[in-house]
Amino acid sequence: MSQNDYRKPVRKAVFPVAGLGTRFLPATKAIPKELLPIVDRPLIQYAVDEAREAGIEEFVFVTGRGKTAIVEHFDVAYELEATMRERGKSLDPLEPTRMQPGNLTTVRQQVPMGLGHAVWCARAVVGNDPFAIFLPDELMYGSPGCMAQMVEAYNEVGGNLISVLEVPKEEVSSYGVIAPGASKGALTEVRGLVEKPKVEEAPSNLIVSGRYILQPEVMDLLATQGKGAGGEIQLTDSMAKLIDTQPFHAVTFKGRRFDCGSKLGFVEATLAIALDRKDMGSDVRNIAEKLLKS
Ligand code: G1P
Repeated sequence: MSQNDYRKPVRKAVFPVAGLGTRFLPATKAIPKELLPIVDRPLIQYAVDEAREAGIEEFVFVTGRGKTAIVEHFDVAYELEATMRERGKSLDPLEPTRMQPGNLTTVRQQVPMGLGHAVWCARAVVGNDPFAIFLPDELMYGSPGCMAQMVEAYNEVGGNLISVLEVPKEEVSSYGVIAPGASKGALTEVRGLVEKPKVEEAPSNLIVSGRYILQPEVMDLLATQGKGAGGEIQLTDSMAKLIDTQPFHAVTFKGRRFDCGSKLGFVEATLAIALDRKDMGSDVRNIAEKLLKS
């Protein structure tokens, strides 16, 4: 097959959101971690906005028990809207939560068996189309957004793409790591992929940072994928097998990445985004300066 067979537009995206969020307990006891707000927008909203900007039209949430509030967030809140209208309040803040009818699908991952398994749970909705994956814990902050930058690269090279970024070598064992080939601008050929390698065995310090464009064939590989790092079915292991038969590139994101799966990353994202907001940035700066002096 020629490379041109792997250039169908990317309109579907999978959001694995079944995780328990234990690192944020007790905050996440009754609230999905994806709904924890960075300033006034839940984490999942940042990922959905990034997806929309990149041309995604169909949103597939891989959820689990206790996660229905995520779907409520993207539904019409009739009573809320009626009351707000009655009181003459603007409904603008709700705009990003609106979905086209039928464009949000949920599938359940009944048992947490790993990211690869979560993605495979979406196979019926993905069908024969290329699709994007967003790990909402990774807040990719930039304009254009990370996925828009990836779609631009996809239009050029097609196939499979992942976003990567450099981390200090001693941190690689927490991530998927690429074996890089030739680079041209922000694009790097991916020669190999390994999930959570030992520091001394890692092929580079370029890590997979939570954004993917994959061809549907990965679903067939996931169907028979054995357990990998941490005893889980790893998406990275099935992606590694795609490299032999399909184009596979990494895109270095031009922007900032916040690891909102950790408390420090979450606080950093909150500070950075609050400081960057036109409506409050200078006030936040004053508050921060005062706090730092006290
Ligand atoms: C997952 C992926 C890993 C990737 C990471 C990014 O790992 O398996 O390849 O580098 O997300 O956050 P997890 O954080 O679920 O252990």
